[in-house]
Amino acid sequence: MLKAVVFDLDGVITDSAEYHYEAWSIIAKELGISFDKDYNEKLKGVSRMESLNLILDNGPGRYSMSEDKKNEIATKKNEIYKELIKKITPDDLLPGILPSLKALREKGIKVALASVSKNAPFIINRLGVKDYFDYIADAAKIERSKPFPDIFLDCINSLGVAPNDAIGVEDAEAGIAAIKAAGMKAVGVGSSAQMHEADVILGSTSELSMEVFEKLIS
Ligand code: BG6
Ligand code: MG
Repeated sequence: MLKAVVFDLDGVITDSAEYHYEAWSIIAKELGISFDKDYNEKLKGVSRMESLNLILDNGPGRYSMSEDKKNEIATKKNEIYKELIKKITPDDLLPGILPSLKALREKGIKVALASVSKNAPFIINRLGVKDYFDYIADAAKIERSKPFPDIFLDCINSLGVAPNDAIGVEDAEAGIAAIKAAGMKAVGVGSSAQMHEADVILGSTSELSMEVFEKLIS
């Protein structure tokens, strides 16, 4: 029986994935490392430091830089990102998200947020949808990022829901892998090439509906 839907944030609730890309592009340019939208797909859903490691791997490699320097660069990326997300307003909710949150609430189905971003609470507040979430995972307490199942398990365990009764919604390959590793059903939104493990793939969040959720778990 469907009891919970767990949403990713960046690229699912709002298009902040684009801001992560913008911020990392500035950093990669400064480092003289090539970085484009295709390569950026690998960074989606992974932690800030692992994202920097992946960018370095496209150049001199992750072991070419001291930990101190990496921390400095990761902090700089976050400063750029924080400037960009200040612009977010409720108008930046992706299509279909608010109606889905409302429909889930009406049906008494629990809703959680599984974002490994430490900026997630700020963004959720800017979007004005905090009250629709029964649980928001604390990224600082999640040891292993996606594709490990940890953050999705944290969400459903906190809600007291079994994996069989829960659906995850994601836009990234690592995120879909995390949902499946947690034993949940996965809805992928975005390009199908990155979503092949998902149970259902939607071209856009505007296609999200109770019907989609109930088809996966009735
Ligand atoms: C994820 C994003 O939601 O959060 C990643 O998909 C990002 O791109 C990660 O690296 C960590 O975010 P932050 O805001 O803590 O640097
Ligand atoms: Mg995402």
